[in-house]
Amino acid sequence: MSSLVRLPGLVDVHVHLREPGGEHKETFATGTAAALAGGVTAVLAMPNTSPPLVDEATFAEAERRARAEARCDYGLFLGATHENAGFPLRLQRRAAGLKIYVNETFGPLRVEELPAVLEHLRQWRGPGPVAVHAEGLMVPALVALATITGARVHFCHVSRAAEIAVIRAAKARGLPVTCEVTPHHLWLTEEDLPRLGPYGHMRPPLATRADREALWANLDVVDCIATDHAPHTRAEKEGPSPPPGVPGLETMLPLLLTAVHEGRLTLGRLVELTHSRPRAIFGLPAQPNTWVEVDLEAEWVLPEQGWFTKVDWSPFAGMRVRGRVIRTVLRGTVAYEEGKVLAPPGFGKNVREERSEET
Ligand code: NCD
Ligand code: ZN
Repeated sequence: MSSLVRLPGLVDVHVHLREPGGEHKETFATGTAAALAGGVTAVLAMPNTSPPLVDEATFAEAERRARAEARCDYGLFLGATHENAGFPLRLQRRAAGLKIYVNETFGPLRVEELPAVLEHLRQWRGPGPVAVHAEGLMVPALVALATITGARVHFCHVSRAAEIAVIRAAKARGLPVTCEVTPHHLWLTEEDLPRLGPYGHMRPPLATRADREALWANLDVVDCIATDHAPHTRAEKEGPSPPPGVPGLETMLPLLLTAVHEGRLTLGRLVELTHSRPRAIFGLPAQPNTWVEVDLEAEWVLPEQGWFTKVDWSPFAGMRVRGRVIRTVLRGTVAYEEGKVLAPPGFGKNVREERSEET
């Protein structure tokens, strides 16, 4: 009896690859190596880079770099500011989606004024949704704005019981909202903070045990599990003002497979949360001949080091998991196998590129 299983390549709709401006934390080449090692064959990259991706020039430069360097398929988000609502349609179509940060987080990208948020929702026509970083009361505020404007709003990293309750109620009314949760909010709580110190600092912050249990209990209204892979170096984390964020691309699938082993998740639901729903919500093309081979029975302890992410640490280090990526195949080519990333920089394709050869 074999414990090897093939899953469709994971699609992670929330990653920070740090180019341009944060290459000491991660690059398209290192971040997508981490993705492939984690069984992720497509990533959607956030725009809070330096400079942020907020117009044609900054977006085109990131596209150019990603095209040359990415090892797995990728899309890039445009970032909302108070001034840039109403992107040219051609630019909207090249983006994975529009990202609006209505709450504070790493970097200066922020839209706190109602008129600007409203204008962005009115003017967005892209094939991808408007992804919002909204916490607390900003969740119902954005549900209301989605309802008023008809914009498709995707809630990033929902982390609290009250927030997931609002999203459940909104969906029950048929409102055009979707949401994601992260592995760190599903596995860690504020009780882990004494142990993790600055390595447990992220936005939204780790919540209570009751919040974590509410996410599990409401997993049926969750659309995607996304990592919010947000690498910062050990030196930065241990410095005087640790930036928020944790890496997650290489640990998501082992953690989820552990939940499958424990009977908290079915394999079918895992595939919906990490593949089918993300693809449908973001309108992503099929990746033919693409799969991840996992060993469901492999037991191992997530290590402190030896990761492909440039920052080489994990908030999950020390956890015993069940399930391991053996091989990742992307468009017919073995891209990762038994500890080695084989896909070279430039192998990845932009998910918004025309693909006449594929269906
Ligand atoms: C992210 C980062 O470092 O870019 N940090 C985080 O804690 N999640 C920003 C973000 O997604 O909020
Ligand atoms: Zn993020």
